[in-house]
Amino acid sequence: MIRPLICVTGLYKQYLANVPVLKDINFTIEGGEFVAIMGHSGSGKSTLMNILGCLDTATAGHYYLEDRDTATLNSDELALLRNNLIGFVFQGFNLLPRSSLLDNIALPLLYAGKSKAARRAKALEMLGRVGLAELGERLPNQLSGGQQQRVAIARALVTDPKLILADEPTGNLDTQTSEDIMKIFETMNAERKITIILVTHEPDIATHAKRLIRVKDGQIDSDKPT
Ligand SMILES: Nc1ncnc2c1ncn2[C@@H]1O[C@H](COP(=O)(O)OP(=O)(O)OP(=O)(O)O)[C@@H](O)[C@H]1O
Ligand SMILES: [Mg+2]
Repeated sequence: MIRPLICVTGLYKQYLANVPVLKDINFTIEGGEFVAIMGHSGSGKSTLMNILGCLDTATAGHYYLEDRDTATLNSDELALLRNNLIGFVFQGFNLLPRSSLLDNIALPLLYAGKSKAARRAKALEMLGRVGLAELGERLPNQLSGGQQQRVAIARALVTDPKLILADEPTGNLDTQTSEDIMKIFETMNAERKITIILVTHEPDIATHAKRLIRVKDGQIDSDKPT
């Protein structure tokens, strides 16, 4: 039996001693899916993404990633799982300002213990894949917002993750640039079968996904094909 990549059951998250932010979340996501998550500000989308990314843990319930119950893992084991399986793309890019684009993209490989030559070769390949092959020695502030987001995507892909988690990756970008970024995600999903979970406020962006989960007040409001 092939198990789902992600299985979330009865998940709750409570930050403070008041109302929970996530309340009884249940879903499975198979390897190769492209899922959009929408919902009002404060509905719990980023909280959910942080848990899916093993950056935070649930208060109750279970999150199985590749069949491993993340609640039973310590922080080192979670970090290993994160580094091996997941690439992150966030709205603010989070690029290191004083490092070249190539060094930014290669950084996750440094953590993975790869040689300098291997890191450089892979970073160059990724930069080419997002259409910026010529710009490797530039600094992030010498790029447009859309180009910076491409670099962030290249960095997320450099470890060949099974899962990409993108929290409002087009939130700062104009319509055309957003479409370009979404084409990169679509290609990754179609050609390399990378599972993508993407949070967005924009209905047009969500239509690029194949499945749409709507979150409302910390609960799943709907979950259906786009
Ligand atoms: N570290 C934290 N400590 C306490 N409360 C938090 C923390 N992080 C988030 N919250 C609260 O949890 C709720 C959900 O926040 P979350 O960031 O998940 O929302 P969101 O759906 O991503 O919103 P947005 O669309 O604005 O990004 C909010 O009420 C927020 O104030
Ligand atoms: Mg958010």
